[in-house]
This record gives sequence, structure tokens and C-alpha cells, in this order.
Amino acid sequence: MKTLIKNGALVTATESYVADLLIDGERIALMGLNLTAGDALVVDAAGKYVLPGGIDVHTHLDVPFGGTRVSDDFYTGHKAAAFNGTTCHVDFARQDKGESLHQTIERWHRMADGKAVIDYGFHLAITDLSDTVLDEIPSMGKEGVTSLKLFMAYKGFIQVDDTTLFKTMLKAADAGMLVMVHAENGDAIDVLVKDAIAKGRLTPEWHALTRPAWIEAEATMRAVALAAVAGATLYVVHVTNHLAVDQIAYGRRHGLNVMGETCVQYLYFTIDELRRPDGAKWVCSPPLRTGADQAALWEAVRQNTLQVISTDHSPFFFDGAKEIEYEGQKFKLPGKELGKDDFSKIPNGIPGIGDRMPILWTYGVGKGHLTLNRLVEVCCTNPAKIFGLYPRKGTLAVGSDADIVIWDPNLKKTMGVKTSRHRLDYNLYEGWEVVGYPEKVYVRGNLLVDGETWNGEPGGGQWLKRTAHGPVL
Ligand code: URP
Ligand code: ZN
Ligand code: ZN
Repeated sequence: MKTLIKNGALVTATESYVADLLIDGERIALMGLNLTAGDALVVDAAGKYVLPGGIDVHTHLDVPFGGTRVSDDFYTGHKAAAFNGTTCHVDFARQDKGESLHQTIERWHRMADGKAVIDYGFHLAITDLSDTVLDEIPSMGKEGVTSLKLFMAYKGFIQVDDTTLFKTMLKAADAGMLVMVHAENGDAIDVLVKDAIAKGRLTPEWHALTRPAWIEAEATMRAVALAAVAGATLYVVHVTNHLAVDQIAYGRRHGLNVMGETCVQYLYFTIDELRRPDGAKWVCSPPLRTGADQAALWEAVRQNTLQVISTDHSPFFFDGAKEIEYEGQKFKLPGKELGKDDFSKIPNGIPGIGDRMPILWTYGVGKGHLTLNRLVEVCCTNPAKIFGLYPRKGTLAVGSDADIVIWDPNLKKTMGVKTSRHRLDYNLYEGWEVVGYPEKVYVRGNLLVDGETWNGEPGGGQWLKRTAHGPVL
């Protein structure tokens, strides 16, 4: 099957030009002027943009957390992603206590098998590092799981100590694998949370006030310094504030192999949201910060101190007592109401996989925060490069997978539950108007989304065996 996309504005991280693009089977076969292909289906993209599909390298699908479970699985999360221009993601496979790393990955495969619609890879989140598990790490890299994640927060649950962090870094450095950290000082947070509860400070706002910016900055610098000693390449996930950005910049100025991401929510929301009556919707860790931090994050994205914008997609119902309908089926799951009397019991996490690309198009590029090429770079190309998927994914190039979004710059939508298509009862961007939205979305040449039509087949998505991370960007 061939598809010839005619006269679209092809956008990569470095270029934009009007040309034709030929898809042959699952790959991009040709790009150039005045292409013809007798037997190809011709798609007129004049006046439209042709982008590589978005890659979201920070997602949590189908995982238990905070006394419940996130509400999107590998089908519903993928459908939300595809409709909104994301064609690939890397999910966190989180080790259970006592489990081998191979068992963890097998468990995640079982969660995705028969459901996945877009392509996906796994990071490995280590929570229990025995000597056997330590020795298992290099084999994971060889098998295509080339990034390891460590939580420096969530004390008593998945937090690791510095011994675990440092030993993993040494092993990862040796094996050419990337180390990712959730950088918050969980011990200090635990003290602050207990103190707040003892004083009867129980509203969602206290979630943020017990996790101040320095708590994140301290852990960020600790991870940067330990990575320096271990010779490891470090990627700091969900950076939220100017102090943490400074630590990454400091490490990079010293020539260290340090990179980082922020997430869409940190660019558009502040701690003020937590003071609303429905503030629990915005509870995530690290928490939302200030307007000044938003400006610092945008600057860090422009200056390449941060190389990626991801989502940390981890959706929890706002009111888990009420059913919603998803594809004709009733669905409900306990959610944020678990913490209605105590902020520390609110499941931490925010939805976003279906919001990232349209929001960043209108409220990022459209507002002059970043260029369209930089949008492609931080949402598609850099994620692919950093996480060992490039050039198969993340760009428009001959031989690359035909993961393509035809983006109509004039298509108007109102963001919200209906548009994001998360399996969830709320959306953070409810009512936000966007101008510019995906019209057609292809994964490996298959037209998954055609306007409002969904052609996605559960099980059609492929697991990606990733290579070692590329050079530090
Ligand atoms: O609040 C968050 N971010 N929940 C998901 C788990 C994590 O820390 O990334
Ligand atoms: Zn995290
Ligand atoms: Zn996360």
C-alpha cells in the first residue's frame, strides 16, 4: 500500500519546506518535488503541515498508584494519543518488590499485548535493587530497555536510597544505559507532610507547600553530582522550577552528561490551581509552581537546558464514584476523592498524553514561546534521539517509519474531556480553544485517525526494542 501526501509543508527539527512525501508500506520512501506514484493513494495536504508523530517519553499506563490505578490502559491511552498527534511513547515499567527486572518487563508486555495501537517502548523503574537485580541491568539494555528510572521521592513506597541510586548509575554507565530520576528529596517531604497533617493543614494546596522548589533542586543537584562521579548520563524527568533548572544548567556548564524534560502542565498551571475547590485535579509530584518558574522553564526549553517536553500522563478520576461511558461501556475507578479530607491521600498524577501536541501548537508556538521546528525537536526528534529510537522514529526522513501527522492549521477545537479522549472524567484544559489540530494520523503507514474516524486496531501497536541513548544533546 502506497500513500502520496502532496504539497504539504514538511516540518522537521531543522527545516520547513513544501514538498511531497511518499509512504510505501510502513516507511517513508521518498520526499521531494512533483513526486508521482501511479498506484498510490493521493492525499492533498496543500495548506497543511506534515509533522513527524509526537513521542511522549514519560507516561504511566495501567499502573497501580496511590491506593488506586491510573485510568488509561494501553488501548485508551493510545487512542487519546493518536487522535491528538502522538504516535509513540515510552512507558515506565515499575519493578515490584522482590521482582526480577525480566519479570517486570514481562508484566508490562502482558499489559500492552493485544491492546496497543501506537508503538511503544519501556523504561525500567527500579525500586528494589538486590545484587541479582544489579547484575541483571546490562541484559535489559541488550534486550532493548535502555533507560533506567529511580524515584528519589515517595518514601516507604518506591523511593530508593542514595546507595541504590549510585550503584545503579555505576552499572548503567558501564552498560551504556541512561539513568532517569524523579528528583525530589522524599525524606524531607515526609517530615514536612507529617508536620502539615499534625497541624491540620489538609487541603490540596499543602501538597505543593510540603514539596517546595528547593526540595526538588537539592535532589536534582545530588543526582547530577552522583552521575558525575559515576560517569553516568543523566536525564531529569518533570523539571518544574528555576532552581532545579539551575542545577541542570550548572552540570551542563561543567561538561557533564545531563539532560532534562519539563511537562506541559508546568508551563500552563501554577500552585493557584490547587487553591480551587477542585484543586485535587492538579495534584502531581513535583507540584505546580509559580508564573516565574513557568517563564524559567520556557527559557530553559529555548536555551536547550531542557531538551524535551513530555506529559507524565498519569490520569486519576476526579470523582471515582461516578461512572463515565467509554466506547459504549460504563467505567469508573477510585480517584482523587480518596484524598478529599487529606491532601496526602490524593493520588498524585495528571492527564496529558492527549493534550500535549494541540496545546503546545496553539499556546506554545502560537504564543511565541517556541518555533514550530523547536516544537518538533522537543516533542518528536529529541525524545527519539535521547531514548534510542532515532532515526526510525522522530523525524521525516527516507527510511524512517511513516509515523506522520497531517496537521490542519485552521482546524478549530475546544479542548476538554471529549477532545483529549482520555478515559477520564475531567480535563485540565477544559474549554481552551485551539486553532490547529491533527487531521490525519499515520502509524507505520497505517491511517489510524482520519478526522473523526478511528481505524485503530487493538494489538496493532508494536513494542520498540530501543538502542543505547545517542549523544548528549
Ligand atoms: O504525580 C505524578 N507525577 N505521578 C506520576 C508518578 C511520577 O512521579 O512521575
Ligand atoms: Zn515522577
Ligand atoms: Zn511520572
